[in-house]
Parts: sequence; C-alpha cells; structure tokens
Amino acid sequence: MRPEGTTSKPANQRPTFLMCPPTLYDVNYVINPWMAGNVHRSSREHAATQWQQLHTALAGIAHVLLVEPQPGSPDMVFTANAGLVRAGIVALSSFHHPERQGEEPHFRRWFHESGFAISEIPRATPFEGEGDALFEADGSRLWAGHGLRTLEDSHSHLTGLWDLEVVSLRLIDPRFYHLDTCFCPLSNGDVMYYPAAFDAASQQKIEARYTASQRICVSEADALRFACNAVNVGPNILLNQVSAELCARLQSRGFHVIQVELTEFLKAGGAAKCLVLRLSEMDVTHAA
Ligand code: ARG
Repeated sequence: MRPEGTTSKPANQRPTFLMCPPTLYDVNYVINPWMAGNVHRSSREHAATQWQQLHTALAGIAHVLLVEPQPGSPDMVFTANAGLVRAGIVALSSFHHPERQGEEPHFRRWFHESGFAISEIPRATPFEGEGDALFEADGSRLWAGHGLRTLEDSHSHLTGLWDLEVVSLRLIDPRFYHLDTCFCPLSNGDVMYYPAAFDAASQQKIEARYTASQRICVSEADALRFACNAVNVGPNILLNQVSAELCARLQSRGFHVIQVELTEFLKAGGAAKCLVLRLSEMDVTHAA
C-alpha cells in the first residue's frame, strides 16, 4: 500500500484540517475525569514537542491550517470542539461548560474570516462540534453523541443543515465524554469503537449499521489510551500509542498506523483526533 503522503496531490486538493498551537495550553480546571489531579501538571514544553510531532505527521498527508491560541482559553488546542464542518458550512459549537464558552467568539471569527457559512447552535442545546459528531466515511450519515456534553435536542439542527441521516448515540461512561473518544468511522467503511461507552440501544444502532466484520472493538486498555481518538486520512491512521495487538489488527486491514505520543494532552482528556478538526470531506480512497 502506498501512503497518501507519497502522492503528488497539490496542497489545496488534499484533505484539510485545523489545528491550534499549544503555546497557551494548560489544565486549568476540571470538566472531565482525566483533568482531575492534573491541574497545572502538564508540561508546555513536552506538549509543544508532542503537538509538533502530530502536526508534522498530519502535514505529511494533509493540508493543515492554524488558528491562533487565545489567553484564557487553554482548551482551544482541541479544535475538534470548535464546530462541525461540511460543504463549507460550520455548525458552530455551543459549549456545555462555561469554562470553554469563551472559545466560541474566537472560533466564530476564524470561520468567518476563512469564508465558512456559520450556523449557530443555541446555548439552550449544547453541541460540542466534531468531538460529538462524526460523518460516515462516504458522507451518507452522521453519528452524533449525546448524554455527557452535547444535548440530544441539538441533533435536529444538524439534520436540517445537511439533509442526511443523523444517528444519535448515548454516551454513558464519563471517561468517554465525547463521541470521538470512543468511536471512529474509518475510510474503508469499518468502525473502530469501544462498545461499553454506549448504552444498549446505541450499541444496537451501531450493530445494525456495521456488520460484525466491519466492527473493530477495542479493549478497555486501548480505549483508555484514546485508541478511538484517531485521525484517519485515506489509508493512514494517526493516534496515540496503542497496543501492538490493536496496531496489528489495523495493519491487517491495510491501514498505515502512525503512533504519536500525546501523554501531555491525555491530562486534559484529549489525544490525536481532539487536536484536529476536519475542514474538508473525508477521503474515502482506501487501499485495504
Ligand atoms: N479538556 C477538554 C474538554 O474537556 C478536552 C476536549 C477533548 N476534545 C475532544 N474532541 N474529545 O472539553
């Protein structure tokens, strides 16, 4: 298989993502179980090195844009929560926790200046962007999480925006508080996920739409390594360090696995996918 980075696509035709440098990153408050005990315990220096490695790996296979970090918004580095983007429209996040609501005007400005049409999600129905909403690789449906951050009522805004099937999934484990911490649709039509993060009805919805052989169930240990928090670009999968067993399973399906140590960001409850927001449609060309 030929990793996408070795092709000669011009930058503007490559998948495009948004990242935010971690110069102002810190764990300043506790809004998920990962942050407990980690307030001011992350190293900016190590975070910068780890983020740079992720950026370098992603820039090798995709086009990466940057948004400037802002004082008072230490979690802004997790751009996946800025909103959900498709076809030049962004459903702008309306954060559940006041601690992150200050990010909203900064992301709004960036999307406005970058030419996106902005759809506001009302404060009354919190929605945390791509952290809680993931498109099927072929764009045919949207998987939308709720229960811990995003409110289920916000999902109706998404249905109206893009005219597609929205499948709501209830999250029940506070350690996996965003959909992208436990669920990852892959470019070949498979899904990698941690079933115990969902209630029984949601597990059934997943099983009804993916055959048994399409479902890659990860162990609790790998889920806790944020294995499902993966950035998938064509045949490439970027993620935090995971077990050799999971890595081999992904490779046997034809994926090129790129592991980047992201321990400094785990202290805030995030890893590869949280640090990246997709701005262009998913690339479904896959080698497996
Ligand atoms: N500390 C951030 C929060 O709790 C981490 C966000 C991680 N982002 C994600 N897409 N899962 O909101």
